[in-house]
Amino acid sequence: MIVEKLVKKDAKDIAEFFTQNFADGWTEEMINSGFNLERLNAFGVKDNERIIGVITYSIAGDTADIEDVVVDKNYRRKGVATSLVNAVIESVKQKNATKLFLEVREKNQGAIAFYKTQNFVEINRRKNYYPDGENAIVMVKEF
Ligand SMILES: CC(C)(COP(=O)(O)OP(=O)(O)OC[C@H]1O[C@@H](n2cnc3c(N)ncnc32)[C@H](O)[C@@H]1OP(=O)(O)O)[C@@H](O)C(=O)NCCC(=O)NCCS
Repeated sequence: MIVEKLVKKDAKDIAEFFTQNFADGWTEEMINSGFNLERLNAFGVKDNERIIGVITYSIAGDTADIEDVVVDKNYRRKGVATSLVNAVIESVKQKNATKLFLEVREKNQGAIAFYKTQNFVEINRRKNYYPDGENAIVMVKEF
């Protein structure tokens, strides 16, 4: 599986991919602005030039945050998200980050199960974090 860095020119494709596969995904405008401000980083996996998995993240000091990790419905349970998380960890380690945080919807049992397999642990809950009022679970992995 080849994980490649995605950049500003991929913003439209990333946004379209999110629209098709994940209701909470960032819009093209948010992704573009993140790249412009150098606040957003992304890796992707493609099949025949078509994006089938994306992870977006940011780094500040010694901490990094996963914004979104999304895999095409037809390509799940094949290790794509695992490869994407590993790519982020390798990249942020080189920038001296020691912790990777994320928020996930409390009811998103599939994603929570996935993050646990990657050794993320729950450290906090944020009440009413999402626009529809759902709570967020905050998870971290230290390395
Ligand atoms: C969560 C998500 C990114 C996982 O992607 P994936 O490529 O299928 O994950 P992997 O194949 O690397 O999974 C590795 C392991 O995690 C666990 N896992 C992954 N998805 C799971 C699920 N839906 N239910 C239970 N366990 C799951 C399994 O143990 C899996 O290993 P296995 O397939 O050998 O049993 C994917 O389901 C997705 O895109 N969901 C919608 C978007 C989303 O909710 N993103 C997270 C919020 S930001």
